Amino acid sequence: MKTRITELFGIRHPIIQGGMHYVGFAELAAAVSNAGGLGIITGLTQGTPEKLAKEIARCKEMTDQPIGVNLTFLPGFANPPYPEYIDAILQGGVRIVETAGRSPEAYMPALKAGGVKVIHKCTSVRHSLKAQKIGCDAVSVDGFECGGHPGEDDVPNFILLPRAAEELSIPFVASGGMADGRSLVAALALGADGINMGTRFIATREAPVHENVKQAIVRATELDTRLIMRPLRNTERVLANPAVEKIVEIERTKGTATTIEDIRELVAGVYPRVMQQGDMDAGAWSCGMVAGLIHDVPTVKDLIDAIMSQAEGLIRQRLEGMLAG
Ligand SMILES: Cc1cc2nc3c(=O)[nH]c(=O)nc-3n(C[C@H](O)[C@H](O)[C@H](O)COP(=O)(O)O)c2cc1C
Repeated sequence: MKTRITELFGIRHPIIQGGMHYVGFAELAAAVSNAGGLGIITGLTQGTPEKLAKEIARCKEMTDQPIGVNLTFLPGFANPPYPEYIDAILQGGVRIVETAGRSPEAYMPALKAGGVKVIHKCTSVRHSLKAQKIGCDAVSVDGFECGGHPGEDDVPNFILLPRAAEELSIPFVASGGMADGRSLVAALALGADGINMGTRFIATREAPVHENVKQAIVRATELDTRLIMRPLRNTERVLANPAVEKIVEIERTKGTATTIEDIRELVAGVYPRVMQQGDMDAGAWSCGMVAGLIHDVPTVKDLIDAIMSQAEGLIRQRLEGMLAG
């Protein structure tokens, strides 16, 4: 399948694995890229620019296909050394960066001077247009369904994607709720040039996370996510567990007076405990509603091959057949 996204990134299939905290290590990124998609290492998860450089080198030993690095620009006080992370990316020979969070505007000159193709992940048409204006090559349009941070507008992909198609001239991929060939064909029909998946890629054999995480996603239904940190205007979609129910209760009681201190112990430092130790109730961790569509833990290659063959079958048989009939 050829789309503006496969052409832009030089990949075989229009499928991207979004950056994921404590999931986006070399093993997963390499598996996705080897299977013909675009694998992405999560920059900040590595901890320092030096460690990111090592992770890029490790990934490049596992694949000769294009890979990307995610740079998440955190809200508020946290300020990692982004210029040094960008140096590590350029020195490592990576030429694709997925940015997310705040606008990447301040870092665009450095990225562009290094010949990097930038795909910015955003949750609204207005932020997508801003990304286009500041020189991003593509956007990942993240609907309300998505795992992680869906923004504050709450527009689901059935509306958001065609709206993005109406306004944007650069290519974009559909993100949030994508799981299989049906998602891909629907995303293409709505005007996207491919898909970005997070949660689906966690439940794969190669994802370097504890088996408990994969099984929790397989067990979860589409009813099992919750939105937290809404009063802080930093909304996150996470999998329900007792810690998350506690956060929801605190936020319900305190309303707009909620501060990060009220919930800090339930959200800070949780990822290594969940992803590496399999302590599923350690606190809040991102998960999409798409968990309801995830019933197995395949290899990344089997997953991507199945998506592409299901998409082809849908286009050639189901859709074409309806026209003929
Ligand atoms: C466990 C987890 C961690 C994530 N961490 C990040 C992150 O650090 N930076 C980022 O830009 N997006 C992050 N995301 C969002 C994903 O890259 C992707 O946009 C999202 O998962 C898409 O929605 P889906 O889960 O329905 O596929 C994370 C998602 C999950 C599920």
